Amino acid sequence: MSNVTADVGVVIVAAGSGSRTGSEELKQFRWVAGKPMLLHTVQLFQQRADVCMVVAVLPKRYAGDPPPWLFQSDIERLLIGVGGTQRGSSVRSGLDDLPTTARIVVIHDAARPFILDETVDAVIAAARKGTGAIAALPLTDTLKRVDEDGHVLGTTERSGLWRAQTPQAFPRDMIDDVTRRANREGVTATDDAALCEHYGYPVVVIPGSERAMKITSEDDFARAEVMSMLTR
Ligand code: CTP
Ligand code: MG
Repeated sequence: MSNVTADVGVVIVAAGSGSRTGSEELKQFRWVAGKPMLLHTVQLFQQRADVCMVVAVLPKRYAGDPPPWLFQSDIERLLIGVGGTQRGSSVRSGLDDLPTTARIVVIHDAARPFILDETVDAVIAAARKGTGAIAALPLTDTLKRVDEDGHVLGTTERSGLWRAQTPQAFPRDMIDDVTRRANREGVTATDDAALCEHYGYPVVVIPGSERAMKITSEDDFARAEVMSMLTR
């Protein structure tokens, strides 16, 4: 990777409260597979020669006094951002901190510590072609629509349905445009690509991996230890 232009800015959102894990310590600061969850992807992105900056967006109360292990990384390419009350506002805050040299932006959830380099390669390559690109997995289970009493109302066609993950990569101008418009118009979404879709920009899927599961519940910590050992 010599002569690589370092034009990729990375925003890792780690400003959530982890309410569904129910633990005292924030889930993104807890250890999993040998180190704090957030440190896994800070280091993974900083190993890339095409990355000019990684912004780790933390809850406001930690941003002024971040956990010391965070500096076990390339501090020349690390910024600490201040998160908001919604994931979308944390993303917007991280984008504001990126240097102008970042022409491609990768957005990633700290809660997915075990992503693959090849997935990052592929979303960045697609974004370089001018589209949004998201890691995702096709659904494998049969889908049922169920009412509040547990009665099955019907079976939903599965083909063409994918589970969205992160990383998600975008041309800088695209993600800046959609996040600013969404902010102005009060449009919210559960991922960043949804804003691109909403405003008519093209988005493609890149095969993600089961390893990239999001750690949400307490049980997920045990599951994630196993996942971290998978190679795909
Ligand atoms: N996130 C964020 N800012 C928020 C909310 C979420 O940066 N205001 C981040 C989380 O830190 C996480 C990612 O977005 O890395 C995905 O969110 P999720 O898994 O839902 O984490 P939490 O919101 O922390 O958990 P919960 O919903 O259980 O409270
Ligand atoms: Mg959440």
